[in-house]
This record gives sequence, structure tokens and C-alpha cells, in this order.
Amino acid sequence: MAKTLFSYFTIPLFLCLSWLHLVTSFPFGSGQIDYNYNYNYYDRSCPRLGMIVKYGVWAAFKNDTRIAASLLRLHFHDCFVNGCDASILLDDTIDFRGEKNAFPNRNSVRGYEVIESIKADVENACSSTVSCADILTLAARESVLLSGGPYYPLSFGRRDGLTASEKAANEQLPSPIEPLENITAKFTSKGLDMKDVAVLSGAHTIGFAQCFTFKRRLFDFKGTGKPDPTLESLALTNLQGMCPNKDASNSNLAPLDYASTYRFDNAYYVNLVNSTGLLESDQALMGDPRTAALVTAYSSNSYLFSADFASSMTKLSNLGILTGSNGQIRKKCGSVN
Ligand code: HEM
Ligand SMILES: *[C@@H]1O[C@H](CO)[C@@H](O)[C@H](O)[C@H]1NC(C)=O
Ligand SMILES: *[C@@H]1O[C@H](CO)[C@@H](O)[C@H](O)[C@H]1NC(C)=O
Ligand SMILES: *[C@@H]1O[C@H](CO)[C@@H](O)[C@H](O)[C@H]1NC(C)=O
Repeated sequence: MAKTLFSYFTIPLFLCLSWLHLVTSFPFGSGQIDYNYNYNYYDRSCPRLGMIVKYGVWAAFKNDTRIAASLLRLHFHDCFVNGCDASILLDDTIDFRGEKNAFPNRNSVRGYEVIESIKADVENACSSTVSCADILTLAARESVLLSGGPYYPLSFGRRDGLTASEKAANEQLPSPIEPLENITAKFTSKGLDMKDVAVLSGAHTIGFAQCFTFKRRLFDFKGTGKPDPTLESLALTNLQGMCPNKDASNSNLAPLDYASTYRFDNAYYVNLVNSTGLLESDQALMGDPRTAALVTAYSSNSYLFSADFASSMTKLSNLGILTGSNGQIRKKCGSVN
């Protein structure tokens, strides 16, 4: 009897509740179309946008394979300071000192000309319609794809910021020689988390770093007068050859992932497991059990890394965006209208 009552009364009640859930969540919940920010935003106003950006990044990549890494980093540094609003592209003015000359960016971040040139092509096709912020976001995804990395879904309708801050860039961008806890705190303050630190650091599967960013690991680690004990000995010898212990070597380049420098794969994590990560902040991911578990998992499962990288990139690409009537559509990416 009790069983019959259960099936007669609880099943219809359950169906009612799930139906209620459906009708309430469809029109007002996640199924809602945000007319200011969505997947199809430029379908009518600039239908060739995707092709123009794809061609622009491809042409730059054909001339300079490293540009894929540089555009991905440019996007990260944009989104991490003032949101994904193309603030990093703004030159200094009499009103503000921008992000370009902040310590982590000056003589380091590359790719400004590529974005400015794609923007000019986009203006020719559909003027005053597409933001520099959306172009940079798309160019970063194209760069990952061209390097063999995963596709990830993006919405559009970001607008361009009106200002930039050198001070904010100096304070907020992560440093390769600060502890993992500090880097994690910077990510958390942006709405990202420790997993995103471990996943997005996987971007270091492509590109290069200048010797000064990791040199203390090679000769005088934290004032010990000795190399970093967490650096494998053969890698140490190779890197000491590329970065001799004198200032003249400071801007020499070393690959962030020596195993497959231009290929977007999971070799970065294999390197970390083998103690051959380049930056202190890379190898530090093995020094905390929470991130070490992720590193180990990604080192043996490239599909898991691809899937997690894709979802963290979608998150990164949505940070602090301006939509609707906020900000503007710049004519040129280097200055406000
Ligand atoms: C987790 C904290 C991070 C730190 C401390 C860090 C630090 C660095 C440093 C020091 C360099 C070398 C710059 C130079 O020598 O001029 C570099 C390069 C690079 N970073 Fe990061 N990074 C971090 C996270 C990220 C993230 C989240 C991304 C993208 C999603 C990224 C993408 C890149 C790329 C692709 C390069 C190579 C750029 C090129 O070759 O032009 N990094 N990073
Ligand atoms: C090709 O790449 C180099 C950097 O490696 C850059 O200086 C040059 O301007 C690029 N040329 C074109 C046509 O984009
Ligand atoms: C890490 O963060 C703490 C707390 O904000 C700060 O006092 C410390 O100087 C930071 N360490 C480094 C190396 O930046
Ligand atoms: C890296 O580590 C894996 C096992 O974790 C090992 O099979 C491989 O030989 C190592 N590669 C190098 C270059 O040391």
C-alpha cells in the first residue's frame, strides 16, 4: 500500500515540479538571449568578421609563428586588467599612462600591429561596428586553433574601454617570481580560481620567455648562491648555455615548452612532471598538491586538458566586459575616438 501511494502521488508531483522548473528557467534563465552580448552578435552587422580575423591571424602566423603565442598573451593581459575591453591597446595620452608601458608589458607583450591591421580590414568591411575587444578575443582563439589547440565558444558584443591604467597593470598582472598563493589570489580577485591558474598556465605550451624572467633559477636562487633545486640538471645546463650569467643575456629567448615549442599540446604538463618547467611560476604548480594533481592528470590526458582549457578560456574572455551603451567602438585600437 505504501508503495502504491508513493507511485501514485510522488511521480505526478515530481513531473509537476520539473515542468514548473522548465517554464520558469526557459524564458528568464540561461536560455535567454542577451541582445547586447551573444553568439550571433555580428551575424547581420558584419558577417565577414570571422573570415577577416582568421585571414589576418593566419597571414601574421605564416610570417612569424610566434605571433600565435603573442596574441594569446595579449588577450590574457587585456582581460586581466580592466576586463576584456582592449584597454591594453591604448597608447599613453595626456590624461592617462596606459598599460602598454607597465613592467609586465613593456618590451615584452607583442602583437599590437597585427590587431591594428586586422581592425583596419574590419573597418573597411563594416565601419564603426566591431570593437577592438572582440577582434582581440577572436584573434586569440584563432591563435590557439592555428597552433593545434582547442576551439572554445565565445559571445560577442564587447565594447572598447575609454581608459587604461599603468598602475593597475603593474599591480594586477601575475609575476613569474611570486608564490603560487599570490598568483591564485590575483586570479580569485578576477572571478577565476586556482584550477584556472593551473589550466590557463597551459598556454605556456607555446611561446618564449626572456632570460631575465627566470634567470635567478639558474645561478642564484633566492639568495642561496645555487640553482633552483626543483630544476632538472640537464635542463639547467641547457638554460645556463642560453642565458649566461651576465646582463647581456637578459633579453635572450628560451622556449616556454622546449619539447614542442610551437605546438599547442599537453607537453607543458609533461615538462612540469619531469621538473623541466621554465618559469618559477610554472614549476610551482607541482609544489602544491591541489595543482600538482591537475598537472599530473593533464600530463597523461591531453583531451582533459583541451576540454578544461577551452572552458577556462571562455571564462577569461568574459571578464569585466563592457556591453550595451557602455564604452565605445573605437575607430583605431590605439586611441579612443
Ligand atoms: C599564471 C601566471 C602567469 C605568469 C606569472 C606568466 C608569466 C609569463 C612570462 C614572464 C612570460 C615571458 C614574457 C617575456 O619574457 O617577455 C610569459 C609568456 C607567455 N604567457 Fe604567461 N604568465 C602567466 C599566465 C598566462 C596565461 C593565463 C596565459 C594565457 C592564457 C599566458 C600566455 C603566455 C604566452 C602565450 C606567452 C608567450 C608569449 C610570446 O612568446 O610572445 N600566460 N608569461
Ligand atoms: C613579420 O614578422 C616580423 C617579426 O618576426 C615583423 O617584424 C614583421 O613586421 C612581420 N612582417 C609582416 C609583413 O607582417
Ligand atoms: C605575496 O602576497 C603577500 C600578501 O599580499 C605580500 O605581503 C607579499 O609581499 C607577496 N609576495 C610576493 C613575493 O610578491
Ligand atoms: C618525462 O617523464 C615521462 C614519465 O613521466 C617519461 O616517460 C619521459 O621519458 C620523460 N621525458 C624526458 C624528456 O625526461
